[in-house]
Amino acid sequence: MDDRELLQQALLAKQTAYAPYSGYKVGAALLTEQGKIYTGVNVENASLGATNCAERTAVFKAVSEGEQKITAIAVAADGDAIPQPCGICLQVLAEFGPPGTRIICGNNNGKFTVYTLGELLPHAFKLR
Ligand code: THU
Repeated sequence: MDDRELLQQALLAKQTAYAPYSGYKVGAALLTEQGKIYTGVNVENASLGATNCAERTAVFKAVSEGEQKITAIAVAADGDAIPQPCGICLQVLAEFGPPGTRIICGNNNGKFTVYTLGELLPHAFKLR
């Protein structure tokens, strides 16, 4: 599964995003160490703060199915700007993926950038 294919899965997933408040639909596709893909979308809420981002939806789906090792995640949204994962999502990703976890951020025009989790969150909080 290469980065483009994972991004394609994220773009497909985006269709079921629930974003009536922001109008900003986001899709994510996460690759596990076992080679399985879990998708996720943003699920907004009238209380706004109860909104769940696409990345966290994908992580929670994977973990609830017994997969705790993340290798890569693609995030896709419409428009010229490339979506950047928020801080909360990066912290959640750091729980289940090493600093080398690939984060592929792209839009529906085929434009994408690949980061590592360590680049975007170099000092994740760890409880020891
Ligand atoms: N959102 C995501 O799903 N992922 C991100 O990385 C950033 C933001 C969603 C949350 C909300 O539904 C909408 O985008 C606008 O903030």
